[in-house]
Parts: sequence; C-alpha cells; structure tokens
Amino acid sequence: MRCLIPLAASAAAVSVRIATPCPANTVPWGDGSCEPFSTAKRDALKWLRKNAPPSDLRNVATLFGTPGGVDGLDAGVAAVAANATLTAKMRWPWAWGVPRDIFRDYVLPYASANEPRTHWHGLLAKAVEPILEALPRHASIADVAEAINGYGGNSSVWQNVGGVKFHSGQTPLIYDPVSTVAFGYASCTGVSTTYIAALRVAGIPARLVGTPAWLGDPTKGNHNWVELWDGVSWRFWEGRPAGGGETLTNPCDKWFCKAARFPVNGSTKVYAARFDRHSNQTVYPLAWDPSNLDTPGIDRTNAYVGMCSNC
Ligand SMILES: *[C@@H]1O[C@H](CO)[C@@H](O)[C@H](O)[C@H]1NC(C)=O
Ligand SMILES: *[C@@H]1O[C@H](CO)[C@@H](O)[C@H](O)[C@H]1NC(C)=O
Ligand SMILES: *[C@@H]1O[C@H](CO)[C@@H](O)[C@H](O)[C@H]1NC(C)=O
Ligand SMILES: *[C@@H]1O[C@H](CO)[C@@H](O)[C@H](O)[C@H]1NC(C)=O
Repeated sequence: MRCLIPLAASAAAVSVRIATPCPANTVPWGDGSCEPFSTAKRDALKWLRKNAPPSDLRNVATLFGTPGGVDGLDAGVAAVAANATLTAKMRWPWAWGVPRDIFRDYVLPYASANEPRTHWHGLLAKAVEPILEALPRHASIADVAEAINGYGGNSSVWQNVGGVKFHSGQTPLIYDPVSTVAFGYASCTGVSTTYIAALRVAGIPARLVGTPAWLGDPTKGNHNWVELWDGVSWRFWEGRPAGGGETLTNPCDKWFCKAARFPVNGSTKVYAARFDRHSNQTVYPLAWDPSNLDTPGIDRTNAYVGMCSNC
C-alpha cells in the first residue's frame, strides 16, 4: 500500500490518545517492562562499547565522550546516539514495542558499517521530526518508513535535507549520511546509510543489506539496500533516490529482485550488517574493503533466493 491512510482518517486519528505504556522518563521495552532512562542509557553505552569495532575503540573518548568533560567534551556520536534513540523510543508510539535485542543491534548503533562516524542524529532530527509529528500516533512502523522515504505525504527526508540524487559509483568517497546530505548525491550505499539513519532517528530498526558480487562474480558489480523491521519481520526496499516506485510489500517490484540475479543455487550471497559482534555468525563483506572483516553480519542468502527467484 503506497498511501498511509486516507486524509480523513488521518485527521480524525490526531485526536485519538494512545496511552503511554510506561511512566515518564522510563523506556518501554517490547516485553512490557519499563526501565528508568538513566539505567537504560548506561546499559546502551556499555553495550555499544562492548560491541564497537576495534578501529572505533582506538577513538573511544572521541566517540563516547569524556564523562564530566566541559565545552562539549562529554559528548560524542556514540553518546548522542544512545541518548537520542532512547528518547525516540519513549516518544514515538511505533517504537514502544521494539524489543531490547533488536533495539540494540539496529536502532542504537551510530553506524551501519565502516563509514565515517559523524553526527547524523543532530543533522537528520530536523529533517525527520516534522514528518513524524504530522503522522497519526497510531501509525505503524511501515507507515512511518514510507512517509520518511516520501511515499505517503508531501515531504520526505530527502526533500527536507535539500534534495539527494542518485549518482552511481560514489562509495567509498561519499557513503555516510552527513557526506550524502552535504554533496546532495550518493550511490546505493550512501543512500542506504542515510535512509537507515533517518529510520533510527524515528526509533525504527533498520540495517544495511547487500551483495558484494552478483552471481559471486565481482566483475558483475555489487549492491546495497535497506531492511527494516516492521514489528514482525524484516522487509526490504531502497532509499527512494536509489529506487523509485518500490513498495515494502512486493519483493518483485525492486529492479534487482529477479530470478536472473538470485538463481536457486545461491551464487548471489546476501548479507545484512549488524553491530553485535559476539554472536559470531558471520561477517558483512565490504565490497570497497574486502580484507576488512570488522563488520558483523547475518547471512540472508536463503531469504532472498526465496523472495526473488520467482520474480
Ligand atoms: C538527551 O535527551 C534528553 C531528552 O530525553 C535531552 O533533553 C538532552 O538534552 C539530551 N542530552 C544530550 C547530551 O544529548
Ligand atoms: C499535501 O498537499 C496537499 C496540497 O497542498 C494538501 O491538501 C494535503 O493536505 C497535503 N497532505 C499531507 C498528508 O500533508
Ligand atoms: C548458478 O546458477 C546460475 C543461473 O543458472 C548460473 O549462471 C551460475 O553459473 C550458477 N553458479 C554456480 C556456482 O553454480
Ligand atoms: C568469536 O569468534 C572468535 C574467533 O573464533 C573468537 O576468538 C571469539 O572469542 C568469539 N567470541 C565470542 C564472544 O564467542
């Protein structure tokens, strides 16, 4: 479904009050428990630090801030991410039910892969919050993800940051959200990390997914796109500048989700990036840095063969 809700229903919904599941200044978790914000933040920072890639741990004070530091020295992009994502989880009703393990791996992290660590929470909040405020409180995660991407209202994160166009071949020069916004263009990786960042600002679990080589042949190129957790399962599409006219419901409407690219022999490997580096499942391969095995991943090959080999 392209449109979120009919305008009449949307206007009526604004007056519907949705009861907050938790007392003020406590964070709701998917299991119905409520945790004081300060405890949740301490836990979130500890988890980020425990799972940060080795290259980030060389910059731990830069990323996490110096406790008690003055003139802004107590801040850092990881510290801001913990504060902002827990605040979003308390504020937006669609984020209340996200369980702690999914929140940690796919909302809390300040990065998707090895892109430059930048303060995208500060940059994107201004572009995303007006979209969220215009939505009815009962909007689903899919509704919110559609609105941010520009399907369902008159605005989008792309428009609100001044416009982002697709230009092929920009990774690794331009592939973090702040660079994408500053240049006004990116290829599939930059468009994906920017859309993931915008979803995380809204409290929505999202992750980078892709193949390092179509049909296992690096000369055939690579591709990245986005998966988001809708409350039940992972759905996929692209940030709109990289793929217009796609939906969250029909896998086959993506240009790349075709039998020719996903033969049943599984020669096209697909991985999703995550932050939890202790599950020891697999590595998210970086097409732009193949010997760098620092980004944890999940093998999604079978899921995509299942979804795309009939398209
Ligand atoms: C953390 O979030 C709170 C809102 O929950 C906000 O008032 C505060 O300024 C934020 N602190 C930092 C350091 O970003
Ligand atoms: C979109 O714009 C039209 C025309 O300006 C307006 O009537 C409508 O209310 C807007 N829709 C939303 C969802 O903001
Ligand atoms: C997998 O199947 C495709 C399409 O039939 C074929 O082109 C490719 O060579 C196969 N790869 C392997 C490793 O079997
Ligand atoms: C993950 O695997 C590596 C390599 O086998 C091992 O050194 C490490 O201890 C494992 N981590 C955990 C948390 O099991």
